[in-house]
Amino acid sequence: MYDVEEIRAQFPILSREINGVPLVYLDNGASAQKPQVVIDAITRGYAHEYSNVHRGLHTLSTISTERYEGTRDVVRKFLGAASQEEIILNTGTTEGINMVAHGWAMPRMEPGDEIVLSIMEHHANIVPWHFLRERQGVVIKWVDVDANGDLDPQAVIDAIGPKTKLVAVTHMSNVLGTVVDVKAICDGARAKGVPVLVDGSQAAVHMPVDVQEIGCDFYAITGHKLYGPSGSGAIYARRERMAEMRPFMGGGDMIDQVTRDTVTYNVPPMKFEAGTPSIVSTIGMGVALDWMMGVGMENIAAHERRLRDHAIGRFKGLNWLDIQGTSAGKGAIFSLSIEGGAHAHDISTVLDKKGIAVRAGTHCAMPLMAHLGLGATCRASFGLYNTEAEIDRLVEALELCHELFA
Ligand SMILES: Cc1ncc(COP(=O)(O)O)c(C=O)c1O
Repeated sequence: MYDVEEIRAQFPILSREINGVPLVYLDNGASAQKPQVVIDAITRGYAHEYSNVHRGLHTLSTISTERYEGTRDVVRKFLGAASQEEIILNTGTTEGINMVAHGWAMPRMEPGDEIVLSIMEHHANIVPWHFLRERQGVVIKWVDVDANGDLDPQAVIDAIGPKTKLVAVTHMSNVLGTVVDVKAICDGARAKGVPVLVDGSQAAVHMPVDVQEIGCDFYAITGHKLYGPSGSGAIYARRERMAEMRPFMGGGDMIDQVTRDTVTYNVPPMKFEAGTPSIVSTIGMGVALDWMMGVGMENIAAHERRLRDHAIGRFKGLNWLDIQGTSAGKGAIFSLSIEGGAHAHDISTVLDKKGIAVRAGTHCAMPLMAHLGLGATCRASFGLYNTEAEIDRLVEALELCHELFA
C-alpha cells in the first residue's frame, strides 16, 4: 500500500505555502524536491564529514571517499549495471552526454558520418551533436514521432545506415511523457553494429531501469530530478565503450603519471572524473537513490500511473484544453495549452497565484516544439509525492485561466 501522505511528510518544502495557499509542486520534470534524508546527508556531509576525496590518508578524507565511492555502487544497483566500473559519476546528464560526444564520438566520426536522434530529444541530447555537425561535418538524422507522440522503434532502426556511428535517444520525453521502447531500438541497432546512448534523465525517475536488459551502451541520469542534489549525476558506459572512450576533461584524479612530456591515465571510470568532484552532492544522490529503491520503483511507477489516469480523466472534461502527447503508456507529464491563445507564461502566472508550480516555455526541446507547431506550453509534471487532490486543484486553476483568457 503506497502511503503518499507518509511520503509527503518526508519532504519539508511540501508543507509550505505559496501566495497564501499550500504549494502544489508540479515542476518535477525540471527538478524534484528533496526528502529529509537527502537534506540530512548534505548537512552531515558538510558539518561532520567533509574533506576532498581520493587524495588524503586522514580520517575525514577516508570517510568522504568511502561515501562518495559508495554512491557508485548505489548507482550501479539503481541502473542494474553489472559492475561499478561501468559507472562514471558526474554533475548530470548534460555533462554525461557531452563527455560521450567529445570522448567517444568525436575521435571516431568523419565528415558525412551520421548520428540518429529522435525529434523529441532535450537540448542536452541535441546540442553536443550539433557541435560535431558544426566542427567536423557530422550529419544529424532526425526521426519524427507520430500524431500520438509515439516513436516507432523500427523507424529509428531503419534510419541507421552504413555511415551511422551512434543512435542517441531519450527513454522518456520531458514534453510529451512518451516512453520509448529503447530495448527494441538497442536490439535493432546492435544487429547493425551501432551503439545506442539513452538519455534516462526523465525515465529513471519514474520507472525501474535495467541497463543490461535494455542493452544500451550509455545511459545518462541526473541527480536533481531523482530527489537528489543539483550538481550530481552519473552515466553508465558499457565496459567496451568505456575502453574506447578518451578522456574529455583533464586534471587531477584522472591521471596515473604526469611528466614534462608525457601523461598516462588512471583506470576507468576514474579516468573520466577529472578534478575535485561534486563530493557532497554525489553522496546526497546516493542517499536519494537508496531512498527511492526503498520506496520501490514499481510502487512509484504504479502511483504515478494512477496520477496520470486521474489527470487524463479530469482533463477530458475540459474541451478547451489541448494536451500534447497521447501515447498509451505515457508518463505523468502533461504539456498543456488553452485554446484561444492564452500565453503559457500568463497561465503559469495565474497558476502560481494559486500556489501551483508548473513550467512554461519550450522545455529545452525546440525541435519538438517546432514539429508540433507550438510556441510554448505549460507543463505539469508529476512526481512520487503528488496526489489526486493536487490534480483537482490544477483543474480548478485551469478553469479560472480559461475564464480569464478565453
Ligand atoms: C530528457 C532530459 N534530458 C536531459 C536533461 C538535462 O539534464 P541536466 O540539466 O540535469 O543535465 C533534462 C532536464 O531537463 C531532460 O529532461
